Amino acid sequence: MFDQTSSTNTTIVIFGASGDLTRRKLVPALFRLCRQNRLPARFKVVGFAVTEWDTAEFRRQMRSGVDEFAREPFSETGWEIFASRLFYVTGSFADPADYDRLRQNLLDIEGDAAHRLYYLATPPRFFADIIAQLGAAGMAQDRCDETGAISTWRRVIIEKPFGRDLASAQALNQAVHMVLDEHQIYRIDHYLAKETVQNILVFRFANAMFEPIWNRNYIDHVQITVAETVDVGHRAGYYDQAGVLRDMFQNHLMQLLALVGMEPPAAFDADAIRDEKVKTMRAVRPLSPAEITSQTVRAQYKGYCAAEGVAEASTTPTYAALELYIDNWRWQGVPFYLRSGKALAHKASEIIIQFKRPPHMMFPVSLAEPLRSNYLALCIQPHEGFHQRFEVKIPGREITMQPVDMEFHYDDAFTPDSVPEAYETLLLNALEGDATLFTRSDGIEAAWRVIDSVLQGWQTEAAPPLATYAPDSWGPVEADELLGRNGRHWRHGCQG
Ligand code: BG6
Repeated sequence: MFDQTSSTNTTIVIFGASGDLTRRKLVPALFRLCRQNRLPARFKVVGFAVTEWDTAEFRRQMRSGVDEFAREPFSETGWEIFASRLFYVTGSFADPADYDRLRQNLLDIEGDAAHRLYYLATPPRFFADIIAQLGAAGMAQDRCDETGAISTWRRVIIEKPFGRDLASAQALNQAVHMVLDEHQIYRIDHYLAKETVQNILVFRFANAMFEPIWNRNYIDHVQITVAETVDVGHRAGYYDQAGVLRDMFQNHLMQLLALVGMEPPAAFDADAIRDEKVKTMRAVRPLSPAEITSQTVRAQYKGYCAAEGVAEASTTPTYAALELYIDNWRWQGVPFYLRSGKALAHKASEIIIQFKRPPHMMFPVSLAEPLRSNYLALCIQPHEGFHQRFEVKIPGREITMQPVDMEFHYDDAFTPDSVPEAYETLLLNALEGDATLFTRSDGIEAAWRVIDSVLQGWQTEAAPPLATYAPDSWGPVEADELLGRNGRHWRHGCQG
């Protein structure tokens, strides 16, 4: 934890401060943290972007963002205190002279030595350039005292997407490492900051009863679903180039897979946890051409090509389903089914741990009814919690059974407000120097290695045909067939 009463200045410099992310997420999160007195006592926020605003205009724009998006009720006094800490500098991300000006402005605003957290909230094409410019302007290195200890730090948060394939992610990692040490770099995946995602670790490793059965001996398969109701909206310019694998799988779904599949870390620290996640992702078997055909589904919702900004006859998938395998002792032969798509019937992120059937069923079960088996649903959102499904006897003389759910929900157990917003958690953790919820360079590359094998496979003759699905449905029939071939089906385990 940092010391809130510390007299050291802390400046958060946001690159791309006139963009949507700053207004919708970053400044509302900072406002709330400020209201809760959780930011360093002497913090400042400096926006930097090409848009020609001054500090007064920046404050006006951010006020409307806070008004619209903050979870904290708007308060005039609260706003006045917060707004007095906001500053703005206009400049181009590519012009060295503008970095000199930014540095000078920062020195004037800070007045004294300061820690600095640079937040790259820009389109990804600027990432490498901004970091190189910060390095060239002498703004990127930690400052040390006479004993060599860091007296004022420099850290950089990098938004996603980090690369668009393995090669570009490796190149970006190299460019970043030319200027910064890995301990200064915080690569964002906002899924990692979701309370229920963090809770996967607690659930698995702070309870003794699940770990013994968390393996191929008891688990039939795992399903990871991230379904969204939103369609491409006004993001077509980005999305049509990216598609669902880059937008959702390389980051969010691969991180969920790693958390479910990883071995217990020896300690709760950033490197021990990230080491285990990386090992798990490295053990995911890249798909051969034959598996690309049989174990992947790609689809587009009907009407996608008519959206503004989407290329005519675009073949960008808005939905994908994958069957992946982790080649290690714990998971050999256990399929991990991953699916995600836009314009689906419900917004739901959930993980199903489907257990095997009892080896011998001594109770009379109707032949017409498929034998059911237990599952555990980790409900990431909405309605965060768990469902555990098992069979019970229906009261009466007959031996008949019915599945029931045992449920835990955060809303019931804790005050609704106690679940922090992902960006609040991420900003605080980066300020505190805790990188546990951020992705390390080897983790990014391990995830890309898997997703790249699919992206490349989809460029070949092995690619499955691009399926279509109706908006507001649960996706293409091909995704049901992917599981159906092995007598399995997708579950909606969090909807009762
Ligand atoms: C982002 C993707 O990373 O995650 C978006 O770029 C997606 O396309 C979003 O909508 C989903 O996040 P959440 O928190 O709403 O599940």
